[in-house]
Amino acid sequence: MNDPARTGHPGTRAVIIGRPITHARSPLIHGYWLKQLGLDGAYDRREVMPGAVAAVLRELRAEGYAGGNVTVPHKEEAFMACDRVTERARIAGAVNTFWFEGPELHGDNTDGIGFVAHLSETWPEWDREPAEIRIIGAGGAARGLIAPLLDRNVKAISVSNRSRERAETLCDDIRAVLPAAPLTILDWSDRGAHLGTVDLLVNTTSMGMNGQSPLEIDLSAMKPSGIVADIVYVPLETPLLAAANHRGLRTLDGLGMLLHQAVPGFERWFGQHPSVTQALRQHVFADLLAQH
Ligand SMILES: NC(=O)c1ccc[n+]([C@@H]2O[C@H](COP(=O)([O-])OP(=O)(O)OC[C@H]3O[C@@H](n4cnc5c(N)ncnc54)[C@H](OP(=O)(O)O)[C@@H]3O)[C@@H](O)[C@H]2O)c1
Repeated sequence: MNDPARTGHPGTRAVIIGRPITHARSPLIHGYWLKQLGLDGAYDRREVMPGAVAAVLRELRAEGYAGGNVTVPHKEEAFMACDRVTERARIAGAVNTFWFEGPELHGDNTDGIGFVAHLSETWPEWDREPAEIRIIGAGGAARGLIAPLLDRNVKAISVSNRSRERAETLCDDIRAVLPAAPLTILDWSDRGAHLGTVDLLVNTTSMGMNGQSPLEIDLSAMKPSGIVADIVYVPLETPLLAAANHRGLRTLDGLGMLLHQAVPGFERWFGQHPSVTQALRQHVFADLLAQH
């Protein structure tokens, strides 16, 4: 019970590592909660070179940090450096949240539970009936998303990625842990096929981000009650979400995932449960607008 990471003792410090690190939003989110909850703690940022993650994590422990976050490109390297990881981090093969417990370094991947928390908050009935899901992309973010989705009332998940091989590796890795996972792969050219039965379509690629071409997909056959989600949050309304809104489909933006993925880490390091509020959303959104 004397572990500062669990009790939110005054002076608890957490940190985000990545490269580059200047645009990371986590300091803004955690700083907001520290202030709002009146906690005497700090959340720092540190630029780390590839290959140096394990050594830096050891240094952070020696410096007294309770834990922290990991962002691009270090999530896989951090996963390798951990002594223990959660099952969802193991499925993702990537860690975005870490903490020190006794002599061990622990890792979790909260991206997917952040996505599901935002989805369930926005559209609470989304999995009342067994849901059919289409995931576009098979990169790191897709890896984080699939295990928490499979924890819900899900009938089938189809994955379509530009390079089919990466989708195959992703599905094989998930089946190695969850042999009965209802996963199928679609060719990239078929990413918009059979949308009439899809309840949730999620873009996990970087397409649609400012400076990138939009994700080309024909939503005309999408199930009218379906939800179209994008995990890209700059811009907040991506061309995909604009097209879905135009068709009157339900949508979900990427900012909520970013905010919700931060909750478990804050709780663990600082010992208090923070809330994802409209005020926090506005705070982070204002920063996004200022930077882009
Ligand atoms: N909202 C949040 O909290 C949150 C959290 C994590 C990530 N994200 C966002 O999610 C996006 C993906 O992140 P990630 O970590 O998964 O990146 P990643 O591991 O590099 O994967 C990138 C994905 O995008 C696909 N892609 C990239 N350019 C493409 C193109 N021109 N045409 C078709 N597919 C393309 C890649 O396909 P190939 O495999 O064929 O290259 C791959 O599926 C980023 O925009 C990131 O900012 C948001």
